Amino acid sequence: MVGLSFLDQNFQETIEHKQKMASFLGLYSKSSSSFLLLCFICFALMKLSNVRAWSKEGHTMTCQIAQSLLSPDAAHAVKMLLPDYVNGDLSALCVWPDQVRHWHKYSWTSPLHFIDTPDKACNFKYERDCHDQHGVEDMCIAGAITNFTTQLSHYRHGSSDRRHNMTEALLFLSHFMGDIHQPMHVGFTTDEGGNTINLRWFRHKSNLHHVWDREIILTAAADYYGKEIDLLEKDIESNFTDGIWSDDVENWRDCSDISACVNKYATESINIACKWGYKGVKSGETLSDDYFNSRLPFVMKRIAQGGVRLAMILNHVFGDSQQEFLAAT
Ligand SMILES: *[C@@H]1O[C@H](CO)[C@@H](O)[C@H](O)[C@H]1NC(C)=O
Ligand SMILES: *[C@@H]1O[C@H](CO)[C@@H](O)[C@H](O)[C@H]1NC(C)=O
Ligand SMILES: *[C@@H]1O[C@H](CO)[C@@H](O)[C@H](O)[C@H]1NC(C)=O
Repeated sequence: MVGLSFLDQNFQETIEHKQKMASFLGLYSKSSSSFLLLCFICFALMKLSNVRAWSKEGHTMTCQIAQSLLSPDAAHAVKMLLPDYVNGDLSALCVWPDQVRHWHKYSWTSPLHFIDTPDKACNFKYERDCHDQHGVEDMCIAGAITNFTTQLSHYRHGSSDRRHNMTEALLFLSHFMGDIHQPMHVGFTTDEGGNTINLRWFRHKSNLHHVWDREIILTAAADYYGKEIDLLEKDIESNFTDGIWSDDVENWRDCSDISACVNKYATESINIACKWGYKGVKSGETLSDDYFNSRLPFVMKRIAQGGVRLAMILNHVFGDSQQEFLAAT
């Protein structure tokens, strides 16, 4: 179903990645045939469920941008928390939460990847919207970001709760800072953030959620950057260092209380989802140049904001100024 063609295209690459991932998880110790079986099961499970996440590319860019903006203290902490084989590259593991969300052990993380808001309400209210389908409070992206930020803030003082795995907390936080900036991750309930709105993207089948997760990014990479995601990412970076967004960055970064900031990010997303994501889109239609050209700037800006703000949070929690920042939690 959703995301299937992506998996097939990138099968080799994914296998390689999963091998690394499996060794990270301590699973790649047996024979490669049991590993292949594991892969098969993973694929089968992924095919069964709607995919809800910035694509691999979106998450990778968000995390690369963030890592380039870390203070020395935060850069050191991140390096200490990452497994050796990624050579200090946070972005290599920023999709990890998507890969484990269907595993039994991590099934509790599944509702943390998105926020369902009432259809057409076009706003976000934490008390009303931040819960899972059984009504358990805080089980949404906004609650998850605050949760893992709080967990990580104990790392520096060596006061971490032993039940919490700091590496996992870092990966979850990094991933969810990407997700909360993907506008369709804060979407309407009935259509599952656009996942059930099937349509065409130029010539192939897709859905509205996936258009924002991946199609726009890949079309941009193909049309303007010779399919080089790294070049696309460098262009995003140059646009906030001394380009169109350079005057906005301070404002993006501004945050004195994590809970309030997370609510702001979710509100920004549902506003963009309403005005630019859903607007004028009907199930069964074909989206092409007009939609692509007018939405591309939003996708790029959200990736930039996600990266800048992830760095801001990591600089807080691994630096000196965390007290006030977490006051409300
Ligand atoms: C933390 O989680 C990672 C990934 O799940 C695992 O490989 C690692 O062994 C865990 N660390 C601790 C200290 O449990
Ligand atoms: C916070 O993290 C812990 C595990 O580290 C988990 O049990 C709990 O459900 C999480 N809550 C949210 C809202 O993310
Ligand atoms: C960067 O800004 C220029 C306008 O100065 C724009 O044409 C380009 O699309 C932007 N690139 C990205 C990746 O946002």
